Amino acid sequence: MSGSTIIPWVVGNWKMNPLQANAEQLIHDLKQCFSQVEISAQSCHVGVAPVSIALLNVQDQLRGSMINTVAQDVSRIAGLGAYTGEVSAELLSDSGIQFVLVGHSERREIFSDTAEVVKEKVKNALSAGLTVIYCVGESLEQREKGHAEQVVLQQICDIAAIVQAEKWQKIIIAYEPIWAIGTGKTASPEDAQTMHAKIREGLSQITAEGKNIAILYGGSVKPENAVELAACPDIDGALVGGASLNAESFYQIAQAFAKTK
Ligand code: PGA
Repeated sequence: MSGSTIIPWVVGNWKMNPLQANAEQLIHDLKQCFSQVEISAQSCHVGVAPVSIALLNVQDQLRGSMINTVAQDVSRIAGLGAYTGEVSAELLSDSGIQFVLVGHSERREIFSDTAEVVKEKVKNALSAGLTVIYCVGESLEQREKGHAEQVVLQQICDIAAIVQAEKWQKIIIAYEPIWAIGTGKTASPEDAQTMHAKIREGLSQITAEGKNIAILYGGSVKPENAVELAACPDIDGALVGGASLNAESFYQIAQAFAKTK
């Protein structure tokens, strides 16, 4: 136990996975794992982010368990209207979804979500009452040039102007170095801790809530490295991609944070 008052968060980002039959099995296994008494919502918050077409079904199936359902993205358009293919924050909220990932590097890089678009998404999500898991992180090139800190702190500053003082409690940060996502390469616990401490410092300059904001690490988190990452004082949880598609692995990661923090 570190003495921090932040309850850790461990979130599984299923990305564009899995097929329905496998999702059924995964949910079944997750419910079984998380019904064990070792983890409670007091020791670790847990969420999974399925594809949008599965959100309500997954939410329904997880009702009564400690696992929250998280949307992977939200429209930059608010409200309702003629916007084919979009899902707004209001629609998520209307369906009982309370959490959303915004600014994941795959959205920024593959789908051209610029800093401006990401900002609009955060704004809409907060206005609709959602909690935002705001993803930040540098590319390998930026790290090698020594720009990692500057890039990440700029991404934090990008949203500072639109998050009202009382809304910071609805923000969770996920630091995911892009070069560590899906590559099997994790930032060393020391490097991750250094960046998390910088983010914490940056947040504390922006808001008095800074010390209470959970900062998750993401990028090839697995049971084998979760304990070391959880031991870092400013790493308050994990955003897990690949390893979240296996219930037992995901459970072990959550357990590492629940026990260590
Ligand atoms: P990974 O993905 O755990 O497969 O590296 C993390 C993420 O992109 O959120």
